[in-house]
Amino acid sequence: MNNLILIGFMGCGKTSVGFQLAKRLNFNFCDTDQIIEEKVKDTINHIFEIKGEEYFRKLETETIKGLIGKLNNTVLSVGGGLPIQTGNERLIRELGCVVYLKTSKDTIMQRLSGDTTRPLLAGDQDKRIEKLLSFRAPIYEAAAHLIVTTDGRLIHDIIDEIINRT
Ligand code: S3P
Repeated sequence: MNNLILIGFMGCGKTSVGFQLAKRLNFNFCDTDQIIEEKVKDTINHIFEIKGEEYFRKLETETIKGLIGKLNNTVLSVGGGLPIQTGNERLIRELGCVVYLKTSKDTIMQRLSGDTTRPLLAGDQDKRIEKLLSFRAPIYEAAAHLIVTTDGRLIHDIIDEIINRT
């Protein structure tokens, strides 16, 4: 097994870093949100709207369980809430080397300003980010084999660090 699992808060760069990292390593790239959208043929936003968050979390857990034993030479980007659900932390660690893309609250706020694709941030976005991030950050840290900061850094620099340290 030779996989890298990228975790972190919405807007930390999992998809952009993951895609480029996979290209550099000549690995496959996949993303749990994309797998879910393809499976249920619906958007994450619409799934939240029609079926609610709990249903979406079940889909996430099913998805991660379904990947056990199936990935090789893959970079997997994982939705920001997936590692937070009880038991999922252990599952992602079974899949490969878990890399937490650690990003500050201010950077996330800047990057997600005006974003309408994240249903959990609807309303007072900055407050929601602050509350969710302070709850989740210690869980991401505990789940990670490796922590890489992203604030003020270029993608290729982040990728170099991941490659050098794994
Ligand atoms: C979520 C993060 C999103 C997506 C959904 C819920 C979360 O993925 O799975 O909107 O709970 O943090 P990204 O982290 O890729 O934005």
